[in-house]
Formats: sequence, C-alpha cells, structure tokens
Amino acid sequence: MGRFVADETVAARKRDVFPELTDNVIERMSGAADPRLREVMTLLIRHIHGFVREAALSQEEWRHAIDFLTRTGQLCSDHRQEFILLSDILGVSMLVDAINCQAGPGITDSTVLGPFYTGPQRELDPGDTILLRDEDSEPLMMAGRVTDADGLPIANALIEVWQTATNQLYDVQDEDQPEGHLRASFRTNARGNYRFRTVLPVSYSIPSDGPAGQLLGQMGRHPFRPAHVHFMISAPGYRTLVTHLFVAGDKYLESDAVFGVKPSLIVEPRPVDGVQTINYDFGLARSG
Ligand code: BEZ
Ligand code: FE
Repeated sequence: MGRFVADETVAARKRDVFPELTDNVIERMSGAADPRLREVMTLLIRHIHGFVREAALSQEEWRHAIDFLTRTGQLCSDHRQEFILLSDILGVSMLVDAINCQAGPGITDSTVLGPFYTGPQRELDPGDTILLRDEDSEPLMMAGRVTDADGLPIANALIEVWQTATNQLYDVQDEDQPEGHLRASFRTNARGNYRFRTVLPVSYSIPSDGPAGQLLGQMGRHPFRPAHVHFMISAPGYRTLVTHLFVAGDKYLESDAVFGVKPSLIVEPRPVDGVQTINYDFGLARSG
C-alpha cells in the first residue's frame, strides 16, 4: 500500500513535466491546411504526451516501443497486415467500428473486417458451394434475406463471404489451398434472398508469429477467434455491412482475441433435410 501511494506521488509529478512542449508542438500546427487533420493531431499529441508523462516512460522503454513498431511495419506485405492485427487485438478496430456503424432496429450489428478480406472475388450462382476442394468438416447451408431496416427486400445486393479451411488457415495463408477456396460473392434475388453452401467453420488462431502475437503472449492472452463466417454486404444507397456469423457453443465466444463477438451474431445451425443449416436475415442501414 505504501508503495502504491509513493508511485501515485511520482506519477502526479510526472504529469506536470514540460507542459510548454506539448503546447508548442500543437501551436506549430497553426498553418495546417486541413482543419480535421489539425483537430485529430492536436488530440493525438495531447494524449501521447500525456501517456508518456503518466507512464514515466524510460528511454529504454521508448526504444523498445519504436523497435516494436518497426518490426510491425517490416512484417507487412500484400499478404500480411500486422498493423490491422495490432489494432484488432487492442480493441481499436472494434471501437472505430462502434463509432461509425451504429446498429438499431432492423439493422444488423457489424464487427471487424480483419486482415483476410482480399478484394473482389468470383461471383457464384445462388445455392453454389464456396469450396474449391473437399474439406473434412460438416456441410453447411447458409441462407436468408437482405432487407432494409423496415424488412423490405434489397434486390441485387452483393454478398461477399470468406472463412478459413478446416486446417484453421485462410487460402491466402496456405500454399496448399486453391486460390479463392472458401471465399466467393453472391447476389440477392428480387425477394432479397441469398443461399450458398459451405462447411461448418472452425475456431482458429490469428497469426501469432509476429509482434502482435508476441504482445498478446506478454499480456497473458490467447490468440484464438471463435468459429465464424465473414460477410460483407453492399448495395447502392445503403451503408456497407461488414460482419460475421459466429457458431453457438464455441469455447472462444467469451474471449475472442479481437473482441469481435456480439450476441446478435451468434447462430445455431439446425438440420434441414439432413443438412446443417443457418438461416439468417441481414438488415442494412441507409447510407448518409
Ligand atoms: C479474421 O477473422 O479473419 C481476423 C480478424 C482480426 C484479426 C485476425 C483475423
Ligand atoms: Fe476470420
């Protein structure tokens, strides 16, 4: 307890270190052409200076942080986005999402995009399978409607889906999978219906061999995500919905490494004509 009080006293002193430096850095932006950039950078400088004071960072700790960010950047490539991972494991991605994509009656909850969306993908016909090779997992039918907030159908909405294979890897992480395996796009019909075939998803570890994974370990956290299928649903005049459907009963639902689980997105497959089936209707918000 005594030590706690002493630390508090030290922290209080550190909070007052060199306040004119912070003011000076902010004032020097008075010529910034973009007022939003100036607003955001002012907040960033206040918070980062406040953080350095409050944590009373040592020079060694700051060097360590620079080295960490350097390694994070160096690992990024067309196939690996370590900064997105870092943002995800620190809860920043979910916070940005929460600020920008508020749900409401008739509107489906959103969640993280993650680093494995690869851009436009092959478009299939209703009822097609997204598999390009067999998987040792139970077949799954996914079907439902895409509507507006009032439940009226949205025709010709683009539904992009992706998930890992049974070996817990996305096609882009695994040379043995055919490119485009377990990812595809579909269009809703005039009644807003979609339907496609896949396999039951599995829980998996996010890439943990880089700085983000090391940090997770140091924070005493595991790197697993509960089983899910990703959806990105877009239609003119509507806000693009980025979300997942999670499978009920998964042991990682309460401790998703990237904080992406929302109760409304947890679904329980049920057998229909002998095939595990998930029926789920998505509601899109109007854009703007
Ligand atoms: C994913 O679900 O694909 C994912 C999301 C965040 C970080 C890593 C993977
Ligand atoms: Fe995923």
